[in-house]
Amino acid sequence: MLSNKRIVLGVSGSIAAYKGADLASKLVQSGAIVDVIMTKAAMEFVTPLTFRAITHRPVVTDWYDSSSELSIQHVQLAEEADLLLVAPATADIIAKLALGIADDPLCGTALATRAPMVIAPAMDANMYDNPATAENVAKLKSRGAVFAGPGFGRMASGLIGHGRLAETPEIIATVRQVLGRHGDLAGKHVVVSSGPTEEPIDPVRVITNRSSGKMGFAIAEAARDRGARVTVIAGPVSVPYPFGVDIIPVHTALEMRDAVFTAARACDVLIMTAAVADYRPVTAVGRKIKKEDMASLTIELTKNPDIISEVKGSFIKVGFAAETEELLRNAQSKLRGKEMDLIVANDVTAPNSGFNVDTNKVTIIERSGEILDLPLMTKDEVANKLLDRVAALLTSPSGRPAKAGTP
Ligand SMILES: Cc1cc2nc3c(=O)[nH]c(=O)nc-3n(C[C@H](O)[C@H](O)[C@H](O)COP(=O)(O)O)c2cc1C
Repeated sequence: MLSNKRIVLGVSGSIAAYKGADLASKLVQSGAIVDVIMTKAAMEFVTPLTFRAITHRPVVTDWYDSSSELSIQHVQLAEEADLLLVAPATADIIAKLALGIADDPLCGTALATRAPMVIAPAMDANMYDNPATAENVAKLKSRGAVFAGPGFGRMASGLIGHGRLAETPEIIATVRQVLGRHGDLAGKHVVVSSGPTEEPIDPVRVITNRSSGKMGFAIAEAARDRGARVTVIAGPVSVPYPFGVDIIPVHTALEMRDAVFTAARACDVLIMTAAVADYRPVTAVGRKIKKEDMASLTIELTKNPDIISEVKGSFIKVGFAAETEELLRNAQSKLRGKEMDLIVANDVTAPNSGFNVDTNKVTIIERSGEILDLPLMTKDEVANKLLDRVAALLTSPSGRPAKAGTP
């Protein structure tokens, strides 16, 4: 989604300016065209050469440099930008942006552009907490600027507090979210369940499965980047939570059921990717089972609720079916039996497909009978193919069948 997007990256004079280089590099790797503007103070920390080598484009440092195109077309970058990202943003630059000062190429570009602005502050905690900075941040937010971070932690000064530059993945997630906010899922609430569940045997042991949460999180991020408000109900996953979405952490299938039922009351789309345990121990023992106590152990299991069958409402309902045999037949019967609108069948025996890998080989089957057999793709690509179908169903008059009995 960042492919060929024109991003102007403003780097100001913070000790975190070196992190701007990593940010520029990740943006370029994602396909963006990145033009860097550095303040004079930023050049005390990093050289323009670093950014030039990373972006393969000239770096703007001076409006009055006659060898630079920008000395004539001083608002050219402002006009061409899809987004202005100021990272790291000093207390000084934030104050200048709030006041509308235009005495350097970065502030001038910010004043001239109509593109959305993302600001990632980086400063000492006392500077960030100062009412002057707080007022400037509030003023910029009220004008539509979006802030990424700052994070909480240890500063270069040794102080612990708010003011650390947000990590690169969070800043990039914010950029993607802002660029996609008028996308085809704008105004929609998408709920995604993700990861495995854990069913306790005793205080230290659980029954679980190999689901990592990657597929659900890829869908959540893709929906966020297409403008949706996203709620993720996440089991105990092994990958970091996505940014810019609401997370409801759960452990057991019963907790997941409650969370799904609550979230489904006010959603447009429910996508169940979680690998919910089919069974749980009838009783979870209150103390750790000691191996000396018995030579063998039998655990009696009882069936967990089938959440996707039980949850009903006037939302688009999407399920995932991990199959090892009879992929299409099994998936089609689940689609009908559980009243889904769409099912994504994945052959977990196919190489590099299914649990704990970054790719998936899936077939998307619709209630109308339409079948989309996709080749092996990254989970991000699968997520977008699936959301293409969801977006089409949301706009089609027959796409959202009125289903009785909201939970
Ligand atoms: C070693 C050092 C580190 C600094 N780090 C920061 C910082 O992280 N955040 C900040 O707001 N100012 C920081 N400053 C102060 C700014 O560099 C100073 O306010 C400067 O005028 C900012 O200019 P600019 O906003 O045009 O880049 C630092 C100064 C020094 C000497």
